[in-house]
Amino acid sequence: MYNLELLESIVQQAFVNAERGHDYWHAMRVVQNARYISSIEGGNISIIEASAWVHDMVDEKFTSLEHSIDSVNTILLQCGFSKHECETIIYIISNISFKGGLSTVENPSIELQIVQDADRIDAMGAIGIARAFHYGGFKNRELYNPTIEPEIFKTESEYRNSQGHTINHFYEKLFTLYSQMNTSAAKRIAKQRHEYMETFVSQFLHEWNGNFDVI
Ligand code: ADP
Ligand code: NI
Repeated sequence: MYNLELLESIVQQAFVNAERGHDYWHAMRVVQNARYISSIEGGNISIIEASAWVHDMVDEKFTSLEHSIDSVNTILLQCGFSKHECETIIYIISNISFKGGLSTVENPSIELQIVQDADRIDAMGAIGIARAFHYGGFKNRELYNPTIEPEIFKTESEYRNSQGHTINHFYEKLFTLYSQMNTSAAKRIAKQRHEYMETFVSQFLHEWNGNFDVI
């Protein structure tokens, strides 16, 4: 049988020094979101949970792609997944990333759809706001700059190298996530988190613009 506890402890070890937006706790929350969505939408729960645990271990932002795929493969085999299941999981995690909204897969499996929704939901709501400002701080970005308009990115590197401020990130990415949810269960959760972020940005701009009346 699969050893998902071993997988969890390997992920925990692997992310000890991770950038905090993509650490063990992010993986834990994505697993939690994915379990809940799967309880409504179905799919193979072992494949879903394993994909959620390792989903940020294959990412060209951090390491070389081939090297990280090899090590994830070894870890999954060690946790009892067959070669074929490892391929399925690696396919899922190689195709869920946001990448400026540029990545799309034809006919995604329900497992891929659920893990993608689970990851995107963790970029929304109160946690999404916390992660965005954390990431902005990590990159030394401005909180806000009224002279810099949101951009529409045509390539992944444009998205990665943008020097924009963090409020723009809401317009460039976070407010687009709700309409990109794959499953109905995720749409329902995303709706509430989307509205929460809208309230946050209006309050932020209200304060920035020197409004002192209560909204
Ligand atoms: P993915 O791993 O799904 O491709 P990203 O690496 O783009 O997604 O984003 C991971 C987290 O970092 C998300 O919470 C996202 O909102 C945040 N983030 C990414 N780019 C920025 C940015 N330019 N400003 C603020 N937060 C960002
Ligand atoms: Ni993630």
